[in-house]
Amino acid sequence: MAKRAETPVLARIGVAIEQKLLDRFDQLLERRRYGNRSEAFRDLIRAALIEDRVSEDDRMVVASLTLVYDHEKRMLSDKLTGMQHDHHHVVISSMHVHLDHHNCMEVIVLRGKSAMVRKLADGLISAKGVLFGKLVLAEPSA
Ligand code: NI
Repeated sequence: MAKRAETPVLARIGVAIEQKLLDRFDQLLERRRYGNRSEAFRDLIRAALIEDRVSEDDRMVVASLTLVYDHEKRMLSDKLTGMQHDHHHVVISSMHVHLDHHNCMEVIVLRGKSAMVRKLADGLISAKGVLFGKLVLAEPSA
């Protein structure tokens, strides 16, 4: 017999919030093209829950790491590549874009335990010559 999809039970909550803060929030929702506040609140709650879970050291995570760096900085490209080879079991894929004569962007996809992924990302981001670095963690199946 086919299993019927469960209808989620909706709970309604009231939130007290300063008018000024709510006005700013509404402006943000407009810029982000939210149709209503409820969906925006749900997304914020989901994001907070995911952020909390993926910060657990032993949690399996997937992640994207974006780096912008000056490839003319001495040995930097070799250093960044070397660090990724040292963690080849965590590095799934990477894409390299030559932004201009000096700067490169690298987007690296990582998968592994949260602590290991964050440690590798911290090492890459803090390497001298890396101008920008941002790690986005997610769950393999959210
Ligand atoms: Ni390049």
